[in-house]
Amino acid sequence: MEKDFFQISESRLKSYLDDFQLNLYIKLGASKFVKFANAGDEDSKDKVDNYIEKGVSVFYLDREGFEKIYNQVQSNISDNIEKLDSLEDKPEEMVDTVLDAIEEVKTLVRNMGLSEAKFEIVDQAVKGVLKTCQSVETLEALLEILNSKDGYIKEHGMACSYISTSVLKSLDWNTEDIEKKIIMSSIFQNVSLETEEHARIFTLEDPNFTSLDEFEQDLVRNHPFLSAELVTGDHFFSNDVEKLIRVHHELPNGKGFPKKDQTKQPSQLEALMIISSFFAHQLIIKGKDGDLKIIAQELNEYFNDGVFKKNYQSMLDTFTKTK
Ligand SMILES: [Fe+2]
Repeated sequence: MEKDFFQISESRLKSYLDDFQLNLYIKLGASKFVKFANAGDEDSKDKVDNYIEKGVSVFYLDREGFEKIYNQVQSNISDNIEKLDSLEDKPEEMVDTVLDAIEEVKTLVRNMGLSEAKFEIVDQAVKGVLKTCQSVETLEALLEILNSKDGYIKEHGMACSYISTSVLKSLDWNTEDIEKKIIMSSIFQNVSLETEEHARIFTLEDPNFTSLDEFEQDLVRNHPFLSAELVTGDHFFSNDVEKLIRVHHELPNGKGFPKKDQTKQPSQLEALMIISSFFAHQLIIKGKDGDLKIIAQELNEYFNDGVFKKNYQSMLDTFTKTK
């Protein structure tokens, strides 16, 4: 089915309103969209600001509007990634630039899925994230930069990429192809979710989950499947990314979701994805109040066993041993 409405975050929308005349919509209920500004209205930005003040953070464009900005989205990603070469000794600017690129590819994939035509641009963004992971010296340094930013989904994606690729360096099955797969999974694991609040829920015991209505609970419970579907594209690349996204909340001991399947053991790569995603979540949620080493040790309760144990120990060696 062709989509009629295309989601866009407030920050992206405000930057596009400088250059494009767009009809703007908000979503009321599961599938009802209401237009609140017409293309060319001079007060479009004020209207957006009014909604932001009321707590709205997600806006929608119609197909015509999204097509107007589609080329711009693509060239923003390319420009950002090209800029990284000149920023190698400026980690904060590098992280800023790559977070923008993550936001842009998320906009693209969330709204249009991932087809072969878009794969090159996503691949560029993934390479940009990898370059940034290699340039930022420590996880502490990355977290300090991320703690001063807004936007859980992209920050979590960046932290998860950093954690997983850092641990991979000490594992003998590491290859560049695996690094790229786990980065892609990291940045798209929550791509189907519309709100940051939903993405911040990691377990179904979280009070922020139990207080949601049934419709929203379903969105959260099924987002690993829905996000995986968005990157499935035309099946032109390995389905490992799809699998990694599907399992990213499958904590051991029946504490995870959506399947809680205890009979099927995750692969080593899947176990690394789950550990990295949960560790990144804890670090971002706790922010400045969190102590990296304590948070890493506390994951012992979940991961110091079975198929997770070896990767968990490598994670502790990577981030908690004094060098
Ligand atoms: Fe998630």
